[in-house]
Amino acid sequence: MRRGLEHFPFPVMAERAWSKFHVPGGKPASAPYKTLPTHIRNTPRELSELCILANFIEVFLAREGHDNPVGINYLEKVQIPHLPSLYGAMLAGVSYVLMGAGLPLKIPGALDLLSCHKPATYTLHVTGAEEGDDMAMTFAPSEFMECDLAPLVRPKFLAVIASNVLATTMLKRANGRVDGFVIEGPTAGGHNAPPRGKLQLNEAGEPIYGERDQVDLGKIRDLGVPFWLAGGYGSPEKVRESLAAGAAGVQVGTAFAYCAESGLREDYKQALLAKVLSGNAQVATDSLASPTGFPFKVAQLEGTLSDPDVYSRRPRVCDLGYLREVYKGPDGKIGYRCPGEPATVYVSKGGKQENTIGRVCLCNALLATIGHPQVRRGQYVERGLVTSGDDLTGIARFLSHGEPLYHASDVVNKLLNG
Ligand SMILES: Cc1cc2nc3c(=O)[nH]c(=O)nc-3n(C[C@H](O)[C@H](O)[C@H](O)COP(=O)(O)O)c2cc1C
Repeated sequence: MRRGLEHFPFPVMAERAWSKFHVPGGKPASAPYKTLPTHIRNTPRELSELCILANFIEVFLAREGHDNPVGINYLEKVQIPHLPSLYGAMLAGVSYVLMGAGLPLKIPGALDLLSCHKPATYTLHVTGAEEGDDMAMTFAPSEFMECDLAPLVRPKFLAVIASNVLATTMLKRANGRVDGFVIEGPTAGGHNAPPRGKLQLNEAGEPIYGERDQVDLGKIRDLGVPFWLAGGYGSPEKVRESLAAGAAGVQVGTAFAYCAESGLREDYKQALLAKVLSGNAQVATDSLASPTGFPFKVAQLEGTLSDPDVYSRRPRVCDLGYLREVYKGPDGKIGYRCPGEPATVYVSKGGKQENTIGRVCLCNALLATIGHPQVRRGQYVERGLVTSGDDLTGIARFLSHGEPLYHASDVVNKLLNG
């Protein structure tokens, strides 16, 4: 992060964050992380600065050591940090922005404006808002710039979609250029689009997908923009199949999540790789876990929140708040609630009790999964939750005989040369 900050164009901002948050030598494992205020519509300047810096560093580090394009992915649902995050990534020269989990109609136009350092707005989705309510958030780069900069490259924008309707809607109604699509099926890791029509669950409580959820690739081809296929495409056969279907390529997540370079906690990685090798790895599509309401893929692993005992022992706390729903209360004021927070609190904000059942605090869980668990009162250490696609059961194909691990380059080589 120091290396990234040294290349950040606004040194005063970089120094402010460093002097406030850097702990020389690292924090003791039993000490809590400093908490920040949660994101709200009128985001405090400090949070915007941290979003700009974090996204800059993420892209800067990913671009080191090669000349290939780097993209960054955001969930549309996590709305409030979008504009400063995009600007930070663009300052670092991001080439692609990918966005799913929602309909990101207003992002392409924001990219056009931010690339010229012009103010951009993004309208918050607020439950209960009425027509005429002003829910716009504005971000003006000039308020953060410490010097003049040349215009930035406008990254290409790819929408992650799971239906033909969404692809057409994006092209017709987006406020700027949509450069292509990632078409992601329900076997992919992370969040999945829910099945179309009425939600039906199988005996294990997983959503059932059918014919209507198939994307017609012929119609996608007719739209005339490049597309990539995702969800179980991490093999040479699937790459060939995608190219033959007219795709520009594939998007792969699960295979990379378990490689040596991935930030997934080492003990989780090893335990799940061992399960794969012994034929015991399982992935469930959990229709309740994610506060977003989207189905979420969960690798089953003892000691993580996929284990009902571990889940029930976790004190419900919402202190990161990225997935909070913004709502307009009966008094006309804007509030924030998450079905993963304590049920009584959620209900006191007008949320429905039944929405809290089975919800996981993905914000804390995913940070724990990459080795940054919050520690509460020196006692409770947040547990992780591993997301993986159905392809988890096949990732042993990247292990050379007898090797305990594989590298990202093994995946790339196999996909391109297999
Ligand atoms: C650990 C993990 C985290 C992911 N997080 C996101 C995410 O934040 N946003 C997103 O659009 N997709 C996310 N995905 C989905 C990937 O971008 C990709 O589309 C998907 O993994 C492809 O299918 P595969 O898992 O079968 O390779 C994630 C996938 C994994 C495995």
